[in-house]
Amino acid sequence: MQYEDLKNKVAIVTGGRQGMGKAHALKLASLGCKVVVGDISQEDCQKVVDEIKAMGGEAIAIKCDISKKVEVDKMIEKTIKDFGKIDILVNNAGICQFNSFLDLTEQEWDKTLDINLKGYFLCSQAVVREMAKQKKGVIVNIASVAMGQIGMGFPGIVHYCASKGGIVAMAEAMALELAPLGIRINSIAPGAIDTPMMESTKQDPKVLEGMLASIPLKRVGKPEDIANAVAFLASDESSYMTGSVVVVDGGWLAG
Ligand SMILES: NC(=O)c1ccc[n+]([C@@H]2O[C@H](COP(=O)([O-])OP(=O)(O)OC[C@H]3O[C@@H](n4cnc5c(N)ncnc54)[C@H](O)[C@@H]3O)[C@@H](O)[C@H]2O)c1
Repeated sequence: MQYEDLKNKVAIVTGGRQGMGKAHALKLASLGCKVVVGDISQEDCQKVVDEIKAMGGEAIAIKCDISKKVEVDKMIEKTIKDFGKIDILVNNAGICQFNSFLDLTEQEWDKTLDINLKGYFLCSQAVVREMAKQKKGVIVNIASVAMGQIGMGFPGIVHYCASKGGIVAMAEAMALELAPLGIRINSIAPGAIDTPMMESTKQDPKVLEGMLASIPLKRVGKPEDIANAVAFLASDESSYMTGSVVVVDGGWLAG
């Protein structure tokens, strides 16, 4: 079977109640992982857990705001209590709120960076302390084509772009520190993916048309397109990869 090594691995997926996070949780569970579905709504996480259980998998729901260290620490404690170890962290939770650069408030900046960047740091640091004990572990970050450098800039979401660029830079540095501990970390840069986050874009036919015109594969991605990359990066199939960015964007950046 493909990804045989994922059987009985313990995986935490943040932002797992909907969109891409839900797809990652379902994919990893279908490959035999025990999944922790973390997000800000216990009820929504539980619905994903119920789906996983209905397909014969194992999962637990944990309410966790990743921007708060106490809540992250509680999520890790509960995971260890229930499953005994942590093998995989999928840093997926994020927000994308529009405002022009000149109108952007300090509060908006802080909120986005607290969730999209500090949250990834807090979750990573807490799981690495557990992974280091077994000298093995994998972290998969969900960044974005808005990460800058080889990615692209997007007007109206300067703070979001900064957070996504930060994730990639942080992962490169972490890869060097974590390699001796047997832990790999890679990032995925999704293009336009059909999730609740894309709802406002989809509602404006002109914006959507403009976007599709720049995407060589002429479609918006499905959450499963990203979940497939998560499974690859979480498994030993990618054992020679760390500090990398995998772009999954229908060719958008190549255009
Ligand atoms: N949809 C896209 O086109 C697209 C493109 C590139 C990258 N991304 C990234 O993919 C990831 C998943 O987003 P999505 O598209 O599924 O959007 P989404 O809005 O459907 O999902 C994001 C999830 O994060 C959760 N979340 C928000 N704040 C949180 C917090 N403080 N603590 C814990 N969870 C929190 C939300 O409740 C939600 O379930 C995000 O990091 C996003 O930036 C999305």
